[in-house]
This record gives sequence, C-alpha cells and structure tokens, in this order.
Amino acid sequence: MIFLLKLLIVSSMMRMWVSAKAIGRVDVSINNYLQNKLDLTVHCKSANDDLGEHIVPYLKNYTFTFKKRFFQGTLFFCSFQWNGPLHWFDIYDQSRDDCDDCLWEITETGPCFYSQCYEWNKS
Ligand SMILES: *[C@@H]1O[C@H](CO)[C@@H](O)[C@H](O)[C@H]1NC(C)=O
Repeated sequence: MIFLLKLLIVSSMMRMWVSAKAIGRVDVSINNYLQNKLDLTVHCKSANDDLGEHIVPYLKNYTFTFKKRFFQGTLFFCSFQWNGPLHWFDIYDQSRDDCDDCLWEITETGPCFYSQCYEWNKS
C-alpha cells in the first residue's frame, strides 16, 4: 500500500515535470549563413500564427518566441528565399526538437542545427 502510494506520488511528479517542460517558452533563431551573402527572406507559420515575411541580411538573424502547446505538439514551418525558388523547412517540431533556444544556420543546401545539417522539405 505504501509502495503503491509512493509510486503514485513519483509518477504524478514526473507527469508535472513533463508538462512543465512541454509548456515552456522556445526561442527560435534563424541565422543567414548563405555563402553567396544575399539577403534571406524568411516567412514562418504555425497552424495558428502567421509571423509574416522578414528579410535577414547575411550573418544577421531573425528570432521568434512562442509557448509550446501541451496537447497538440507545436509545429512551425518556414519558407526561405534568396534568389529564385522558395525552400521549405519545419523549423520547429515539438516531437523532433528538444531545444529551448533553437539556433539554426541557413545555408543554400539546407538548415543546420549546430553541426547537424538537414535537407529542405521535398514538397
Ligand atoms: C541575433 O542578432 C542580434 C542583433 O544583431 C544579436 O545580438 C544576437 O546575438 C543574435 N543572436 C544569435 C542567436 O545569433
């Protein structure tokens, strides 16, 4: 009985910790590392928010902050353009990312998260 009670307390504490983590604030920073040194046009959206278009000069950044949603995972996707076609990337995916300060470096071939580089979305 005592054991069961302890189990209950520990599991509810764990659940509180998980939910505190799940509703925290997240900063996403998008840094222009295009080797051609062109301005980068960034436009990010989620299901609920359209953050508008932002022009990021070479080696500068665009940063936005949001609160994670507890029930539906948060997803922000962005378009990126310098000369020519739009490229897309899921810049924050709650099921993929565990960062509170998410620092992205945008290159021609795709975004890099620290030394991990990704390709643009296919579609
Ligand atoms: C973004 O740019 C601002 C202003 O130039 C700078 O203070 C800040 O350190 C930069 N942030 C990142 C993550 O590079």
